[in-house]
Amino acid sequence: FEPVKIAPSILSADFMNLGRDVALIEEAGAGYVHVDVMDGHFVPNLTMGVPVVKQLKKTTSLPLDVHLMISNPLEQLPWFLDAGADSVTVHAEVLDADGLARAVACIHAAGAKAAVSLKPRTPVGALASVIADVDMVLVMSVEPGFSGQSYIEGSEDKVARVVAMATSVGASPLVQVDGGIGAATAPLVAAAGADVLVCGNAVFAVDDPARALAEVAAAADE
Ligand code: DX5
Ligand code: ZN
Repeated sequence: FEPVKIAPSILSADFMNLGRDVALIEEAGAGYVHVDVMDGHFVPNLTMGVPVVKQLKKTTSLPLDVHLMISNPLEQLPWFLDAGADSVTVHAEVLDADGLARAVACIHAAGAKAAVSLKPRTPVGALASVIADVDMVLVMSVEPGFSGQSYIEGSEDKVARVVAMATSVGASPLVQVDGGIGAATAPLVAAAGADVLVCGNAVFAVDDPARALAEVAAAADE
């Protein structure tokens, strides 16, 4: 049994002091740096891309967990892999079964971990063709696009359904949850089987990020 890992999302960090914020969460025991890439098309918002991943790779030894909220992941995937992404998440809504298989193969060929994400209204069945091949499944617990939103109640049930689906085919991908996770919601998703918790505002929009991170981790392991 592994303790839950925290993946702080730098979307909520201070971009003018990004190096400092990443060093801070590394020191505080974060498991990953979560990088939210948005293209203004798959989601309304526009955030960061390949150049930021490249710079992060030079400044931290934490694994870079790149969440691609973009419409054309097959086109852009190789760039993020070259830039040093350690895990890459693509969305099931923009790829058919063949596209998902190609994305996973491309990520694995680069030696990185492959993950597939589901928006809140996308059924778990969308994972059927890849569940046995992915290293991680990302369950969105808010509509992707913005940090600081409230956790959609009942998202923990979807975590449990993903775990059940994986178990039924003898697979054991990590299950990550993203959106509105903090000390209050961490216990719910952890109890349902989540392994990795993404935290944006809960870690960075507070006075003491290191302490906030420890509090979420402790709440998850209760
Ligand atoms: C939402 C992003 C999340 C978000 C998390 O589209 O994928 O990673 O930044 O932020 P919080 O934890 O504040 O909901
Ligand atoms: Zn994310």
